[in-house]
Amino acid sequence: MNQTQSIQLRTDNQTLDLPVILGTEDDRGIDISKLRAQTGYVTLDDGFANTGACKSAITYIDGEKGILRYRGYPIEQLAERGTFIETALLLIYGELPTADHLERFRELLTAKELLHEGLYKLFDGFPPNAHPMAVLSAMINATSCYYPEITQMEDESTFEIAAARLISKVRTMAAASHKKSLGQPLMYPDPGLRYCQNFLHMMFSLPNKPYEPDPDIVNAINRILILHADHEQNCSTSTVRMVASSGANLFASCAAGVCALWGRLHGGANMAVIEMLEHIHKNKIDLKQYIEQVKDKSSGIRLMGFGHRVYKNFDPRARILKDSADKVLTKLNINDPLLDLARRLEEVALEDSYFKDRNLYPNVDFYSGIIMRTIGIPVNMFTVMFAIGRMPGWIANWKEVHDDTTGRISRPRQVYVGPTKRDYVPVEQRAAK
Ligand code: SDX
Repeated sequence: MNQTQSIQLRTDNQTLDLPVILGTEDDRGIDISKLRAQTGYVTLDDGFANTGACKSAITYIDGEKGILRYRGYPIEQLAERGTFIETALLLIYGELPTADHLERFRELLTAKELLHEGLYKLFDGFPPNAHPMAVLSAMINATSCYYPEITQMEDESTFEIAAARLISKVRTMAAASHKKSLGQPLMYPDPGLRYCQNFLHMMFSLPNKPYEPDPDIVNAINRILILHADHEQNCSTSTVRMVASSGANLFASCAAGVCALWGRLHGGANMAVIEMLEHIHKNKIDLKQYIEQVKDKSSGIRLMGFGHRVYKNFDPRARILKDSADKVLTKLNINDPLLDLARRLEEVALEDSYFKDRNLYPNVDFYSGIIMRTIGIPVNMFTVMFAIGRMPGWIANWKEVHDDTTGRISRPRQVYVGPTKRDYVPVEQRAAK
C-alpha cells in the first residue's frame, strides 16, 4: 500500500501530521492510529459512514459511479459470463481459477455436500415456522462441532476444506430447513448435479417426483448468487471481520454474518420488498399516494429496496437483476403483476425530488425477490439465498483477517455520555421514580 502525503490536524495545543494511505483506485484514508495517544481525542462516526475499518483487496465499489468489481473484475462481466463457484474462488484466492483448480474444488464441494446424520436430528428441534435465518445460523455453528480441526486453522488445505464444507453444506442446510417447514421428506444432494441445480433439486424434488429445472432458472440462481457474493465492508461482512479479529473460527464468524444479514435494513430487505409490493397490489394503493406516505417521515414507511449507504447512483446489481427478471419471466411466460408494479414504483420514485435529492435508487434487493418468487423460492427464504450468495465473500474476508499476521483485535472506542461518578445507595434509601 502506498503511503503518500499527510494532512494536518490542529487541536487545542498542537498541529498533528496524519499520514494519508492511498488505495489502488486513488481512494484515500487518513491514518488516525496514533490520534488518541497524541491528542487524547477519538473520532466519532455514526454508522461508520466515513470510517475505513480495514485495508482490503477483495471488492471495490465506487458509489458515485455505480461501479462494483470483485478482485478487479467488473460485476457485469462476472454476472454475464461467470459461474458462482469460479466467482467464489476468485474472491477467496484473488484470481480466476484455472480449469484444474475449479474441477478440484467442485469435487471437494461434492465430497462435502452431505450433513452429518446427527445434524439432521437438530432440524426436529425447530418449530415448523422457525425463521430460516435462525435455523441457518444455528446449523452453521452446530456443523462446526463435527470438525474440531477448524478451530486451529493451521494450513491452506485445512482452510480450503473448511471453505468447501461451508459453501457446499449451506445449500443442504437451507434446503433441509425448507423441506422441514413443509413437512416434506428431506432430499439428499445429488453428486451428479452442479452447485445451483443441486440446490434446486434439494429444494423442490420429491422422492416420487424429481425436479428438472429450466436451464434459465438455473442460470438465474447462478447470477443471483454471483451478484450477492461480496460487497466490501457492508454490515454483515464487517461483522464477520470483527468476529474473525478475535481469533474465532470460520464457521462461528460466518454464523455471526448470517445474524447481521437478517436485519430488514440489510439482507432482510429482499423479503420486505415483496411484502411491500404485495401490500400495494392487494390493497390497490395508488403509487403516488404510497410515495407521499414514504416521504412523510412520521409514517415510518421506507421504500424498501431503495437507497444505499454507498451507492449514490444506480446499484449496478439492480440494473442486472431488473434485466434478468424481465428475461426469466418472459422466457417462462409468466406475467407477475409485482414486476410491473416494481417498475412503475421505480419510475414514480425517480421522478420525485425527494428521492433524487437524496440519491435514492433501487438497490440489489428491489428486483431480486421477484426472480426468486418466480422460481418458487418462498419469501421467508429470500434472505437465506442472500446468505448462500454472500458466503464466499464472508470466507474471503475471514481469510484476509486470518492471514494478516500484524492484525489486531477490533475494539472501537466511544464517547461516554452516561452519568458521572456517583456513590452506591442502599435499596431502602432509593426513592421510587
Ligand atoms: C443491502 O452495505 C451494503 O453494501 C449492503 C448491501 C450488500 O450487498 O451487502 O448492498 C445489501 O443491505 C442493500 C440495502 C437494503 N436495504 C433496504 O433496501 C432498506 C431501505 N433502505 C434504507 O433503509 C437505507 O437506504 C439504507 C439502510 C440502505 C441506507 O441507509 P443510510 O445510508 O443510513 O441512509 P439514511 O438512513 O441516513 O437515509 C438518508 C436519507 C434520510 O432522509 P433525511 O433524514 O435526509 O431527510 O434518505 C432517506 C432517509 O430517511 N432514506 C429513505 C430510504 N433510504 C434512505 N427514505 C425512504 N425510503 C428509503 N428506502
